[in-house]
Amino acid sequence: MKKPVYENLFKPLKLDGLRLKNRITMAPLYLGYAASGGRISPLLLYHYKEMAQSGAAMIMVENASITPNGSGSPRTIRCDHNRFLNGLETLAHTIKNEKSLAGLQINHAGRFAHVSEPVAPSVVPAFGKPPRALTQREMTTIQKQFANAALRAKKAGFDLVELHGGTGYLLAQFVSPRTNQRTDAYGGPIENRIKFPLEVLKRVKDTAGNFPVGYRFLVDEWLPDGLKAKESIVLAQGLEKEGVAYISTMGGTYESFFLPEIINKAKKPGYMVSLAATVKKAVGVPVIAAGRISTPAKAESILQKKSADLIGLARMLWVDPKWPKKARKGDDRSILKCSPKCDACLQLVMQGKPAFCPKWSKESRAAYRELFQ
Ligand SMILES: Cc1cc2nc3c(=O)[nH]c(=O)nc-3n(C[C@H](O)[C@H](O)[C@H](O)COP(=O)(O)O)c2cc1C
Repeated sequence: MKKPVYENLFKPLKLDGLRLKNRITMAPLYLGYAASGGRISPLLLYHYKEMAQSGAAMIMVENASITPNGSGSPRTIRCDHNRFLNGLETLAHTIKNEKSLAGLQINHAGRFAHVSEPVAPSVVPAFGKPPRALTQREMTTIQKQFANAALRAKKAGFDLVELHGGTGYLLAQFVSPRTNQRTDAYGGPIENRIKFPLEVLKRVKDTAGNFPVGYRFLVDEWLPDGLKAKESIVLAQGLEKEGVAYISTMGGTYESFFLPEIINKAKKPGYMVSLAATVKKAVGVPVIAAGRISTPAKAESILQKKSADLIGLARMLWVDPKWPKKARKGDDRSILKCSPKCDACLQLVMQGKPAFCPKWSKESRAAYRELFQ
């Protein structure tokens, strides 16, 4: 095969016993394609087949809930019961058949859960709705639910799982000084606030055995009184000690994403790369950078500067699933770009509708629409 134009981007990487054929990964992207009730749907399978056919080394499937009480929406994938096993198995095989590694992101949405009585570390209202503070007994149950979900993912044939510690969901709620106001051993200084996610990782690893576990990592909440890198890197170092496979970095939560200065920040190419670089300086495990990495040239320079070890593409891959193939040829110019002015996908999924990209051809949109149930 001809030598790729971007050499760093196409160098393989060993990751906790797995071999990534290149440095391109799909970052988790919830698009509202699962069937109502969280089952795997024909549309979801069609979508992930397309993502895996892209040539990305690893596809991290969007957040899947570990308990109905921690689900972000009615169309969030569920992996909290063995009745979901068959669907998950089909999904894992669909991805692996295309020669990509298949990962499942597992999550508890905490105070952002789409339920009547959301739970959280402390009673800090989310958009006016106060959650109920978790008891330590309930926290142990949630740790077991994470472990069981990971085991289910392993049984279904996934190559790895990713714990969702980003977007301000439950694991991040424990780490944040805003949302964790507990007075027990899980609150107070950062060393206490990281205890819960570290215990989750340990329990998942102990239960699932020889199975890589990555972590979606909130570096900075982008809120004045929120979590900052100075504290979050203490968690990064703790995760490394507990054997995490990689750290996939991100910034912001639902409480900061829609602030005018954050909307502006998020329009810039590579807007979260500096977060990855900060974490990479603090740990030895592979670090993923994401956030409008719209061209292979940008991705190559991130790797060259050692700001990250892997590239995470979410909307960038969804808008143009040929991104990796065009990158191999150095054909940056023909890549369909996600417009920084457009947030149609986010608006649609927040209204509970499936996302379609205005950049797609009529035929592509029709193919997706036809499969939507
Ligand atoms: C509609 C939408 C859904 C997302 N869903 C998830 C998710 O399920 N899990 C997660 O960790 N990040 C999620 N993200 C964040 C992405 O993984 C990624 O960090 C972000 O979109 C920036 O990368 P991009 O510019 O390539 O899209 C989501 C982002 C958007 C816009």
